[in-house]
Order: sequence, then structure tokens, then C-alpha cells
Amino acid sequence: MKHITCIDDLRMLHKRRVPKAFFDYADRGSYAEETLRANREDLQQIKLRQRILVDVSRRDMTTNILGERSALPLILAPVGLLGMQHGDGEIHACRAAQAAGIPFTQSTMSICSIEDIAAAVDKPFWFQLYVMKDRGFIKALIERAIAAKCSALVLTVDLQVIGQRHQDIKNGMTVPPEWSLSKLVDFAIRPAWVAGVLRGKRRTFGNLAGHLKIDQDITSLSTWINSQFDTTLNWKDVDWIRSIWPGKLILKGILDVEDAEIAAKSGAQALVVSNHGGRQLDGAPSSIEVLPEIVDAVGSQTEIMFDGGIRSGQDVMRALALGAKSCMIGRAYAYGLGAAGEAGVAKAISVIAKELETTMGLCGVNTIAEIGDHVLAV
Ligand code: GLV
Repeated sequence: MKHITCIDDLRMLHKRRVPKAFFDYADRGSYAEETLRANREDLQQIKLRQRILVDVSRRDMTTNILGERSALPLILAPVGLLGMQHGDGEIHACRAAQAAGIPFTQSTMSICSIEDIAAAVDKPFWFQLYVMKDRGFIKALIERAIAAKCSALVLTVDLQVIGQRHQDIKNGMTVPPEWSLSKLVDFAIRPAWVAGVLRGKRRTFGNLAGHLKIDQDITSLSTWINSQFDTTLNWKDVDWIRSIWPGKLILKGILDVEDAEIAAKSGAQALVVSNHGGRQLDGAPSSIEVLPEIVDAVGSQTEIMFDGGIRSGQDVMRALALGAKSCMIGRAYAYGLGAAGEAGVAKAISVIAKELETTMGLCGVNTIAEIGDHVLAV
């Protein structure tokens, strides 16, 4: 681990250690991957303003996220199938986040169940919800999140239909993994991954156990999602969810000012500016491109979180400078998990934290609250 100095190092290690189908599932985007690339390219266009001879000896990265103290303006985003990157991956990621003092969000499409994580960690975590056609099941899922004392519900609003990820089709990605001849070769050269996944509690979606046909293998994740997810989902359903979920509600997947204005009045406490990591509408703008207009429109009414292409502390600085209160990372920690389990996630968080601390120093700021567009070079 001592030679790991940046998120890209974790990515390279992840690629070596995890079978191609699962690495690609995390790494790649939808269709021509234009939006995936735009997320990174547009962040890199934003230049930071160097300031000198400012006393930066009191740098402090703590902040408030939805009224709770967080050690960093960073949240682990919901990522599906973490348990296929590393055995019990969701538990490892949650433990690393809690040790670092930041929130972890469990995806509906996790391998570990809500209860598996709750039994393995001391503090509350966030739960991300996908709404399926079987509303009785969704109500029960929300009630399970309440029983597990999840401290926020993240409703993903940009995946009623799934954007095609060419690479998943080409790789024949299945859950649980199929032990075909071609896959066996891929697995055979990665014995540590196989041992970890075999030791893990589960090999299919823990939250969905017993639901519909989920006990069978999902030979095509996208076909299954398209058959189960509710395409009728609309703003009235946010009221329905609100009537079941008493806690903090976050809407994830907002990319448009008009939608942000409705979201701000929906009873949700926060929204996440996100294009689902370039995995959904290809051709959509990057998250960072639309962040300023959404902040202008609703930043005074609701808490705005940013998601989309964050790979460094410099990127966190850029998003905070444009008005986000905190940033979600997805791939950045999934790479860490695939590379080295809990230690790899901890490394991903500490890499970004150290970069942010240094960047704050070089931009002449001591606190997260001080960060604004004055740290940008125009
Ligand atoms: C699910 O959320 C995915 O992006 O694969």
C-alpha cells in the first residue's frame, strides 16, 4: 500500500485483482461514454487559484452533512455489487467510511443485506432506494431500513430505465458470477478474489432475497432491472415514500434546474447533482457543468451534494468552490475496495483527504466554510 499515492494506482490494482466483468461494471459507462468522459474532462478544465503567504496552519476539513458532523465533505455513494468487488464488500466499505468519520450509502443492489451491514458496524449508515413495481416489497424494504436505524434514505431518481453499458453485455456479466470455462480462466488467475468472494456471506443481491425471481441467477442485470423497476415512478411517489420514511430524504440524480426546483419543494432535505457517473443518459452534460446553475436556483433552499467524476481532493475543492456542500465518490472507493478491501477503501478516502488538505493550504483557506468561487482562477 505504501506505493499507492493516488486513486489511479488503486484503479490499476483493482483491474489486476478483480475479474474483468466486475472491474468493467464499476469502471465503464453507458453507450459511447461521452458523459462519463465529460465528468472528468470538465472538472479538469476548472483551474484553482494559488495564494501565497497566508497562514494555513489551522486547516480543518470537518463540516456538517445534513446537520451531522462529518470529518470530511465526502460521502461514499451507493454503488451496486460491491460484494462482487471483494467478499462482503459493502461491510468493508461501510467500516472504512465510519472509521474515517464520513457517511456510507448502501445500494439497494448490494450483495450484503441491510441487516448484514447493520450487524457488522456500530454506527448508522445511509440506504439508497430503487423503486420496483412491487410496491409492497418496496414498503417492506423502507421499513427494513428504518428497523436498521439507517440515518438517511437516498432515493435514486435517474434510473427508471437503465442506460446500456456495452461492456457488461460483451463481458456476459452475471450475478452471481457464472463459472463458465472462459470465466474460470479469469477467476483462476485471481485466487485471492475467489477466496474472498467464496468466504463472503452471499453471492447474490442480499436485499432482494426471497423477492420475485431474484433467487435465480440474474443472467442479464439490465434485462432484470428493466423488467422489475417501476417506469411509472413520478413526483407523487416521493410523497408516498415520505409517508413511510420519517427520516432525512435525499434525491439523487438531478441534472436540470426545473427538476431541482421541484425537488427543493418535495420535502427532501438534500439533492445530489449527478448523472449516475455517466452510466445513464449518455450525451447529458457533466455534473460539474450544471452544478452552478442548480446552486443558483435552489442552493438557499436545500442542501446540494455533488457526484460525478471526483478522483482527487482537487476535484472536491472544485465542486465545493462551485457551491456543493459535500461530494459523493463512487468509483474512487470501489477501486480501493477491489484493490485491497477495507484497507483499500480507507486508502482511497485518505488519499482524497490529504489532497484536499494540501489544496486548501495552497489556495490559502483553513476551513470548508471558507471555500467559495474565490479559490478559482478565472
Ligand atoms: C446501478 O445503479 C448501476 O449504475 O449499475
